[in-house]
Amino acid sequence: MLTPRSRGPLSEAVFQALRSRDTAQLADAPEPGDPADAQLTLWVMYELHHRGFEDVDDELEWDPDVINVRRRLETAFEQTLRDRTPELPEPGAFAETFFDFVAKHDGPSLSAFLHRSATAEHVHEFLRHKSIYHLKESDHTTWVVPRLSDPVKAAVMELQYDEYGAGNPNRLHATLFARGLEASGLASAYGTYIDEVPVEVLEQNNAMSLFGLNRRLRAASLGFLAAFEATSSVPSRRIAQGLDRLNFPAEMIEYYTEHVEADAVHEQLAIRTICGLLLDEEPELHEDVYFGAWTSMDLEDRYAERMLGEWAA
Ligand SMILES: [Fe+2]
Ligand SMILES: [Fe+2]
Repeated sequence: MLTPRSRGPLSEAVFQALRSRDTAQLADAPEPGDPADAQLTLWVMYELHHRGFEDVDDELEWDPDVINVRRRLETAFEQTLRDRTPELPEPGAFAETFFDFVAKHDGPSLSAFLHRSATAEHVHEFLRHKSIYHLKESDHTTWVVPRLSDPVKAAVMELQYDEYGAGNPNRLHATLFARGLEASGLASAYGTYIDEVPVEVLEQNNAMSLFGLNRRLRAASLGFLAAFEATSSVPSRRIAQGLDRLNFPAEMIEYYTEHVEADAVHEQLAIRTICGLLLDEEPELHEDVYFGAWTSMDLEDRYAERMLGEWAA
């Protein structure tokens, strides 16, 4: 993957500095022009920890000038996410309260639209946007693993084992998605569609990296995971039915049908075992579990609102 097209003064300056290896100039990096400029810059910096870029030296992953700009952006982003978070449930019977919190959440339903009304073009656009995450599905959770106690770690790995294909290189969820993209006539190379994704998609991906890469936010990362799994099974079924209605290839449908079953199991594991055990050990992390969970649902709502608005127009 090459560095993407810049979206404002900050991404322009940062990408240029990365490509030329002249990162000292980042000491005077401009302020971001708008949220998309900030989020794209942050996304590129997080990618240095994932797969990197062909036009950026791997040495720059831990370059202090780069990390400085990243810290500035992620501090502001975390504050934005916290400011968006409403009052959260009090500690109590965790699993029941958490299931209730997710069930009562009422957001716009993109999956209902994809199920009944979307055109093939809408679905193609949706798949291109989702490819930014699904082609590295679950990697953000892997960052958290060494930061957990043995019982929580074992439960996270049970879930990750499924996400990573249970030992079969053809069954990773990321691989299933790639196969679906190709069968649908789309590109499956990692990051291909980054230039066209809206800011909401960048925010979703950056929140996962922010929580995954900062040990102090491990509870937010697991809360994000729990809400993500708990809001996946039913929408996956609707999307699979929508794809079927539009005669999408079986490979693409399979990615979603796989998630109908898998995530019904994963939500139990993530809520009862992973977050439950974590909070038994460290009850003071209660608020961050919910902060992560809220962020997961809120960012998906924001994406849904944007796309339903654009498609209605
Ligand atoms: Fe998955
Ligand atoms: Fe899952």
